[in-house]
Amino acid sequence: MKIEKAAARTDLRTGAVFGEKVRHSTKRLGQLAGLFADETARAAMDADVAVYDVEWHEAAPEGTPGGLFFGTSTVHPGKVGEEFFMTRGHLHLRREAAEYYWGVSGSGLLLLADEAGDCRAEIVEPGSLHYIPGRTAHRLVNTGAEDLVVGACWGTDAGHDYGQPDEALFGARVLDRAGVPTLVPERL
Ligand SMILES: [Fe+2]
Repeated sequence: MKIEKAAARTDLRTGAVFGEKVRHSTKRLGQLAGLFADETARAAMDADVAVYDVEWHEAAPEGTPGGLFFGTSTVHPGKVGEEFFMTRGHLHLRREAAEYYWGVSGSGLLLLADEAGDCRAEIVEPGSLHYIPGRTAHRLVNTGAEDLVVGACWGTDAGHDYGQPDEALFGARVLDRAGVPTLVPERL
């Protein structure tokens, strides 16, 4: 029986996660073909530009029943054409699995779409708390000039379903219309 320090740490101010079991992934423009409405504009940009980073504490391997991941997503500022940088967005493979997001820094929107395609957005700002129910596609959009940093906690057995290439998980896109982030219905 002993008392010891936690094996992992998070910086509550920056959202950074530290420790042995921390993983990191970066998504760059070159990996995101077809994600943005203006594919011609995306293809003309530097493929190495990082759109978003995710780091997470992986205490249990993906797929572990009942386990949890704790992580931080950072969506960098930028636009493809008039569309703000965003995450790919996903449903969970285990459709009923929910997730928490919370705003750490920056400003943006959380797009949420139900299985009927009805889309809404919640404002993400420092301290905002977002419960994402099961069966709800979710995507972060950075509408500000700084990094959008968002904490998350989700099930190790939730999984990610990014949809088919020709399938729109979200019924709307967030576009810069004369300097105003605007939710614009997807043209299908
Ligand atoms: Fe998720």
